[in-house]
Amino acid sequence: MTDPRTVFLKDYQAPAYGIPRVRLQVDIHDGVTRVTAGLNMRRAESTPVGTPLKLHGVNLTLKALAIDGAELEADAYTVAGEELVIHAVPEAADFVLHTEVEIDPEHNTALEGLYLSKGMYCTQCEPEGFRKITYFVDRPDNMALFTTTISADKKRYPVLLANGNCTTRGDAANGRHFATWEDPFPKPSYLFALVAGNLACLEDHFVTRSGRKVTLKLFAEQHDLRQCHHAMESLKASMRWDEERYGREYDLDIFMIVAVSHFNMGAMENKGLNIFNTSCVLAHPETTTDLGFQRVESVVAHEYFHNWSGNRVTCRDWFQLSLKEGFTVFRDQQFSADQLSASVQRIEDVAVLRNAQFAEDAGPLAHPVRPESFIEINNFYTATVYEKGAEIVRMLHTVLGEADFRKGTDLYFDRHDGQGVTVEDFVQALADASGRDLSPFMQWYRQPGTPVLHVSTAHDAVAQTYTLTVRQSVPAKTGFPEPKLLPIPVKLALFARDGQPLPLQLTGESAAVGVERVLIADQAEQRWVFTGVTEAPVPSLLRDFSAPVILDYAAGDEELLFLMRHDNNGFNRWLSAQTLFERMMLAVIEGGAAELPGLAAVLESLAGLLPGLVETDPELAAKLLQLPTENYLADKVGVIDPQRIHDVRLGLQKAIAKHLSAFFQNQYLNGHESSYQYSSEAIAARTWRDVSLHYALLGTPSFTLRDAVGENYRKAPHMTERMSALRALVHHDAPHAAVCLADFFGRFAKEALVIDSWFAVQATNPLRGVEEVRRLTAHSAFTLTNPNRMRSLLAQFANANPVQFHRADGAGYRLIGEKIAELDALNPQVASRLLGAFSRWKRLEPGRQALAREVLQGLAGRALSNDTSETLGRLLG
Ligand code: TRP
Ligand code: ZN
Repeated sequence: MTDPRTVFLKDYQAPAYGIPRVRLQVDIHDGVTRVTAGLNMRRAESTPVGTPLKLHGVNLTLKALAIDGAELEADAYTVAGEELVIHAVPEAADFVLHTEVEIDPEHNTALEGLYLSKGMYCTQCEPEGFRKITYFVDRPDNMALFTTTISADKKRYPVLLANGNCTTRGDAANGRHFATWEDPFPKPSYLFALVAGNLACLEDHFVTRSGRKVTLKLFAEQHDLRQCHHAMESLKASMRWDEERYGREYDLDIFMIVAVSHFNMGAMENKGLNIFNTSCVLAHPETTTDLGFQRVESVVAHEYFHNWSGNRVTCRDWFQLSLKEGFTVFRDQQFSADQLSASVQRIEDVAVLRNAQFAEDAGPLAHPVRPESFIEINNFYTATVYEKGAEIVRMLHTVLGEADFRKGTDLYFDRHDGQGVTVEDFVQALADASGRDLSPFMQWYRQPGTPVLHVSTAHDAVAQTYTLTVRQSVPAKTGFPEPKLLPIPVKLALFARDGQPLPLQLTGESAAVGVERVLIADQAEQRWVFTGVTEAPVPSLLRDFSAPVILDYAAGDEELLFLMRHDNNGFNRWLSAQTLFERMMLAVIEGGAAELPGLAAVLESLAGLLPGLVETDPELAAKLLQLPTENYLADKVGVIDPQRIHDVRLGLQKAIAKHLSAFFQNQYLNGHESSYQYSSEAIAARTWRDVSLHYALLGTPSFTLRDAVGENYRKAPHMTERMSALRALVHHDAPHAAVCLADFFGRFAKEALVIDSWFAVQATNPLRGVEEVRRLTAHSAFTLTNPNRMRSLLAQFANANPVQFHRADGAGYRLIGEKIAELDALNPQVASRLLGAFSRWKRLEPGRQALAREVLQGLAGRALSNDTSETLGRLLG
């Protein structure tokens, strides 16, 4: 049975009426904001005369309605649910509709539409927030030219911003002022934005490659302005990069970013006026860790890149969301790889994919990258649409190569500039420009589930051949059609035992084609035979994670250890180590082994490898030692016992820590921190130091070490060091943890983002649990109305502290269930997302499963938002 609220891709129809031009007047007053709209309407050619005009509108108080200057009679229209239906429509194709509505931004806690955040008014319209501002055809295939006039009190709201260029500004009566902004590019309503507030500005400029000067303005609270420089540098780097790598130049004379404290997600690419969560703009060495700096850089790039992949070429409908998000994530990943270290970037991207997206694809919230149906589109801003979507684009890039891929994107931007298009249009442009048939790749957008690639190998010493047999399987999912075969690019190399890569020649080829190749596995089973292979090689498969699949290859431990040491692909050294650790831990968790198999050889290998690796590539050393997460392991077992997973993983960490105890201690104690530098070398050194501290404390820590951590906390020259020490103290329950936590809170009481991290470090402590988190929900600094703050405590606890969230008595489930109910009344979008923490509930061992079910069913008995009830429905399925 389908829910009556469900929307289907197959039902797509172009809008009956379009709106080529909009004039908006937004008058902000305390307690009420009046929005007056002049809409130039156009009946589509295919729409019969007399067809009723339907406009979207939510929570609007209608004050006036007129067509071509004539006020409408009460029986000429109806307001029903989320629609205004006008029955009497003029015969002429073009007419002007005037509306006047009142809205209440002060009480908008959902943070969609126009809302107030810390004294500033701002908007969030993607995907369907514009209908909370005024009546409109609020869908991405309706593109309009916008003129926006804002008026507000001049003293309290001196800065008035909207999309495009400011054409007029001036004073008005009663201490008010106004500004008019015109956007010369037609755009869908989801890219509309306005801001009114008392903001400070960091200004700079950028000269495009054709010589145009673009003004860059970054707006934030006065107090935060010193934390805006990194974002500005990132913006300029992004603008240059998009010109060089994609030939894309910025198209307006001004580009603005505004930092906002209350924000549902990371940031939003509104045309010429990006609005950002403060967490994705502000960065300063004293308050921000390396991770935070990297996040700012990549989110600034992501939103900037949307100007072409999203804004100039947009989505026809919301089912095509990955068209802009998958492609733009791929672009920001490429950008980040070029800024710091490419192999580290790939390791981090794949870790996100395997931890978040594979989990989603394996559970009840699984959906295709392009869904076929939804109730609430806000529920589809997911790891699948973003990260798996990016992987599809990456596969196309791998198959085409850089030059043809670029020809393809040039054609795509050129052909579809100013249009709302589909995923097919994107793939077709790449195909047309390269002359390749890419249609088989469309299947990746259509079916959910992570494919498994089964590989077996055979060496024939007499014939000197090496045969690779590859099978693929995709798990069938209830509610979705039978999965079909997919084209899976497998990048590979073969290593001789001396560590040298072999030249790769397939039977039928006259010569070897390099030492690394990409084969496309697109059959149920297929076979490749390499010739001239004298000894059994070690295969390095799925290099750089050339496809978003699970690799099932029964490598021997020695092969994995060999690759961990000798592979010339940094990513695959990491993947080999992960595979090895995963296998050892699963043997105990799932296989019933009493001890970690092969542990001695692994420890010996690490002891031999690490001291040298720390000198040449400390970041890789750090990544090698970050074991697969508890949640990742949970997705690999049939029945989940979170406590057992935690214990086994901790056991492996302790074994490594004990074996190399002195080494880790020395690494930490001999390293020292100086002033902050944002460079891949400096980040690598700090990351390694943090990992060695963690292992040092798990080993047999000396008093010297314990004292040093407290001391380093106090003297830390920057937040990366301070947070590393604080986390170590708290998570290892060190005697001075409490004192340092109190010190930290006092020191940074005025820095909201740092206080978020203060909550997070406690929420993720595996030694403390529900009681601590509950106590913190009552802290005067805690609130559910700020998503960052809410997430720093509740989402961190539920997603990043599995052993405590899944406590056997169900107290963790009850706490989160209770908070979801409270939150849903305030902010459905983020409440629904928090519910995702229960995605593994059906695979929990029976005791926990029953407790989780009770909480979920309790929620189902309440009146909930569309967002949360859709997610809950899918979870309970
Ligand atoms: N389009 C935004 C991005 O760059 C994300 C987004 C979608 C968003 N909906 C939102 C951001 C709601 C904030 C609030 O990925
Ligand atoms: Zn995006």
